[in-house]
Amino acid sequence: MTEVIRSAAELREKVAGWKRAGALVGVVPTMGALHDGHLSLARAARKQSDRVIVTIFVNPMQFNNPEDLKKYPRDEAHDLALLEADGVDVLFAPGPEEVYPDGFASKVTVSGVSEPMEGSFRPGHFDGVATVVTKLFGMTQAGRAFFGEKDWQQVQVVQRLVRDLNIPTRIIPCPTIRESDGLAMSSRNVRLTEEERQMAPALHRAMTTAVDAIRGGAVTEAALAAAREAILSAGYSSVEYLDLRDAETLAPVTAPDQPARLLAAAMLGEVRLIDNIAVDPR
Ligand code: PAF
Repeated sequence: MTEVIRSAAELREKVAGWKRAGALVGVVPTMGALHDGHLSLARAARKQSDRVIVTIFVNPMQFNNPEDLKKYPRDEAHDLALLEADGVDVLFAPGPEEVYPDGFASKVTVSGVSEPMEGSFRPGHFDGVATVVTKLFGMTQAGRAFFGEKDWQQVQVVQRLVRDLNIPTRIIPCPTIRESDGLAMSSRNVRLTEEERQMAPALHRAMTTAVDAIRGGAVTEAALAAAREAILSAGYSSVEYLDLRDAETLAPVTAPDQPARLLAAAMLGEVRLIDNIAVDPR
């Protein structure tokens, strides 16, 4: 039975009891609309911790676009049923006034890794993520936190944050879960029309082709230009970025002599999709 807790004080009491009994607490921070990607994080948390908290909070502070916030899918009853089936101990689902009470005046900014790509296309997004994640770590007191690699830049931001602020939560990145046609699972996928859903895997396909070409010795710029072309001809309306970056610092790289990552964001109809794949050194 998954217990639903909405107040930070109640959660703190629950966690204190677990910790007195020597339990290691794992947390999976989410914004709900759960899919197999989230559930794989909850299962990883189950394996690597004694008690599991999944948080659901659609964080207004990380949405730079109010329309996007309004349209973000929400279905707590369905989410709860999935978490119960997976044996999650607590669903922590605070309301906005619990997270940002009257007079709230703080902001956590992680510079460097948060600045390119998502940071430049979604100004303020990572301040919102870093602030809410800091709060969620404080509220859950978790020893381990599980994040999907689909949001690769977010993982790097959170890693930097816990190192810089001495937050005693270990970040465990978990692999991206994909549909059978390669599309990365995302809560936003439900907003694709049937036709767009057919086109969507072109993003991952073009990225994979580019990575194969780069690893085979192709000039990175040419491989990325071909991938952009393929994504646009498949029906995407724009490619916001398609960048080869150092996997950890996210500095631009021209040839993968060190572990790198190809990261992209592209618009398909009204839906913004992101993806990334590993590029091992050649
Ligand atoms: O990845 C997400 O769903 C969100 O950015 C997170 C980490 C739950 C913070 O709101």
